[in-house]
Amino acid sequence: MSRKHLIIFLACAVMAFTAVVAGTVLWMRGDRLGLSGLVTSSGTALVGGPFALTDHTGRPVTEETFRGRYMLIYFGYTYCPDVCPATLQVLMSALESMGEAADQVQPIFITVDPQRDTVEEMARYVQYFGDPLIGLTGTSEQVDEAARAYRVYHQRAEDDQGDAYLVDHTSILYLMGPDGKFVKHFNYDSDPEDLAAEISEYVN
Ligand code: NI
Repeated sequence: MSRKHLIIFLACAVMAFTAVVAGTVLWMRGDRLGLSGLVTSSGTALVGGPFALTDHTGRPVTEETFRGRYMLIYFGYTYCPDVCPATLQVLMSALESMGEAADQVQPIFITVDPQRDTVEEMARYVQYFGDPLIGLTGTSEQVDEAARAYRVYHQRAEDDQGDAYLVDHTSILYLMGPDGKFVKHFNYDSDPEDLAAEISEYVN
């Protein structure tokens, strides 16, 4: 490990630790990341909408592709050193523990880093998390449009590490109904059983 790589590794470790501490503090405060603004006073959700992307097998998909099933959507990127793989792990474990009810739910991972997350890269990545997971990528414009629809912030971290850059991004799970409408969001939770119980309030 070169000195440069060691520095990048240490920086990542510090960021990961900070993220865990900050996440825990927010969670203990019951702070829902200020997401009350995602729903209007009349109860109409401002999250969700049309998207046109390509799945990890190269198939073009839109939000219509998944009509009739719940969508559990998470935005992230395959080079994410910590939060994304941990969240996907928890998400897939939660669905697995739900048994047949999970058949009604399509887990979807949408990249915010289409530059590196090609169709091939997404295919390689999603296989680590189990068959049901679908990975979606697209052009930068397509990804930006999907992220905007879901109010997902993403910003490449400023540095000069070539292809080793990090991407800051919102880390929230969105449960969308069979009609494509927003049902509920979940913040990162380290316990698959808790997440399964929350999802089961809507899907059973
Ligand atoms: Ni991430």
